[in-house]
Amino acid sequence: MRLISLVLIILTLSLLTACPQKKTAETYQANTKAQQNRPDPHSFSRHDQIKVTHLDLDLKVKFKKKILEGFAILKYQRIDTSINQLILDSRNLKIKRIEAMNDSKNNKLLWRLGQKIEGLGTALIIDLPLDNSPIKIHYETTSGASGLQWLSSQQTSGKKQPFLFSQSQAIHARSWIPIQDTPSVRVTYNATIRVKSDVKVLLSADNNHQQAVDGIHQFTMQQPIPAYLIAIAVGDLTRQQISKHVTIYAEAAVLEAAAYEFAATEDMITATEALYGPYRWGQYDLLILPPSFPFGGMENPKLSHITPTIIAGDRSLDSLIAHELAHSWSGNLVTNALWKDAWLNEGFTSYIEARITEAVHGQDRMKMEASLIYQSLIDSMQNLTTDQQKLINPAPNVDPDDYFSSVSYDKGRFFLEWIEQQVGRSAFDQFLNKYFDHFAFKSIKTEDFVGYLNQHLILPHLDIINMNQINIWLNQPGIPTFFTPPITNRFKLIDQQVKSWVSGQLTTDKINSKDWTTQEWLHFLRALPKKLSTQQMQQLDQTFKFTARQNSEIAHDWLLISINNQYQAAYPRLINYLSSIGRVKLIKPLYQALMQNPGLHNLAMNIYHKSRNGYHNIATKQIDTIVGFDEMTDSIK
Ligand code: BES
Ligand code: ZN
Repeated sequence: MRLISLVLIILTLSLLTACPQKKTAETYQANTKAQQNRPDPHSFSRHDQIKVTHLDLDLKVKFKKKILEGFAILKYQRIDTSINQLILDSRNLKIKRIEAMNDSKNNKLLWRLGQKIEGLGTALIIDLPLDNSPIKIHYETTSGASGLQWLSSQQTSGKKQPFLFSQSQAIHARSWIPIQDTPSVRVTYNATIRVKSDVKVLLSADNNHQQAVDGIHQFTMQQPIPAYLIAIAVGDLTRQQISKHVTIYAEAAVLEAAAYEFAATEDMITATEALYGPYRWGQYDLLILPPSFPFGGMENPKLSHITPTIIAGDRSLDSLIAHELAHSWSGNLVTNALWKDAWLNEGFTSYIEARITEAVHGQDRMKMEASLIYQSLIDSMQNLTTDQQKLINPAPNVDPDDYFSSVSYDKGRFFLEWIEQQVGRSAFDQFLNKYFDHFAFKSIKTEDFVGYLNQHLILPHLDIINMNQINIWLNQPGIPTFFTPPITNRFKLIDQQVKSWVSGQLTTDKINSKDWTTQEWLHFLRALPKKLSTQQMQQLDQTFKFTARQNSEIAHDWLLISINNQYQAAYPRLINYLSSIGRVKLIKPLYQALMQNPGLHNLAMNIYHKSRNGYHNIATKQIDTIVGFDEMTDSIK
């Protein structure tokens, strides 16, 4: 009897391991149900049943094939002990085999891939070992991994070594790590990265260079973080420590300029600690990426990823560093549990960014930035539906990137600024300080914030603020009428001059732009009338040398005006700009403007053909539709 059952067990086991993807209809249905009830619409995981707690990565970086290859070991915790299947997120991963990390002879585990869902990827469903031992997933990434950008050496400034960097937010970690890719789940991680020996490797973890031997790099991240904060960069990087907590990593050609530009970073850390409590992550390093990095910055813990386009030479665009640093409290320490609550990350961070800028660069600069931001918020809301104008966008199941708009950033920021104005700065600072401590290393929803706010700030101040007002901010479109928009006298002076210039009372050379900062130039350009004559454009350019400006923000605004007024003298600069920068915020509006003008379609197409290869897939995804580019035929429709 015993023998028979043993034979049977062996038979079934070998059958199942021979075709690990074959499952019964029952299991499939169970999984479908599991899927219907998943807590995060942007993740397949059922972390309410079993949640991953720790990750050990061991990956080879294969530049020729543009893949990462190796394994991930996952530890997990069972919450619902009746469930034995772990569901992970994956997207275009090649899973090779999965085994239990125990002593059993046949430690192969059964697994299968679920149905592919556009935008989300594929569920990876694994039958767990009964002894709860960690599981080891052998896999490799594929060339189309949406979270990785592989640059050839030609696409770097040093031209000697290729470059790799990841961008995991919002849901791209799953394209290079099989994991529960939801901000509701936090993991600690260790990593071993193997690469040819003459390049540097940096992770969002402790970057200890002494430990790199023969191209084997070891990393540890002891604080639990969500998957979207796991990051890697590999390339020909040099470094310079600029202060106690801060080392800058960059290609040799930009290191010195970056070290000058970001000199205020340590002061920013000190200022934020004074407001919101200790910086809990040890180092705060900056990695300056090649210009194709699609964002301004990304708050990878211990190591923010930064675009080189904010190196202006005068430190005037370093509020972006304040922003990424601020995420060390809002976002990385207290995290939005779902992407629809993105304003908890970005609105809070934009608010703190302004407080840091004020502390480090003074109130004038903060006010000017506030005014520029308010104006673009109002402009951009005109193109948003009423639902999109709400802090929590109620649209379900959309691409999580759609939850990141000027509403989550700037309406969120002005909401918090408004609360501050009502209760007073010191009460609000104390409140936020406690909030970060209370929810530290937790992932929370808007309701959690609102409950805490009500108890600790609204109830004690009912004479000056009430929940009705809070609900208007949270649930109504637009900006509440009881909010007073930011104003600054420095911009009023500019408005007066523009008015006189437009009416012909003031000639271009008499515009008093002495000592204007970047923010004043930006306001000036935005205050100009939409339609300008060629003569006016020429005068502006001759007097202020706009076409030759190297400040990426000023150049962007000028190029936009040049497109809208068909000022051809700026086109060579436009071509150069669009083919050397890949930051979506700077290039997308220019392509949009070109396409709004039928006479400029050819120019747009020529530039895009030339530049597309250098852009990140996050950029091409958006710009392909703007210019009507068809990837299959490699041509423009
Ligand atoms: N976390 C964001 C970048 C991001 C958002 C990546 C959504 C992927 C999905 C980062 O902190 C950020 O907000 N960057 C801004 C900086 C700016 C507002 C100062 C950017 O890249 O422009
Ligand atoms: Zn941010």
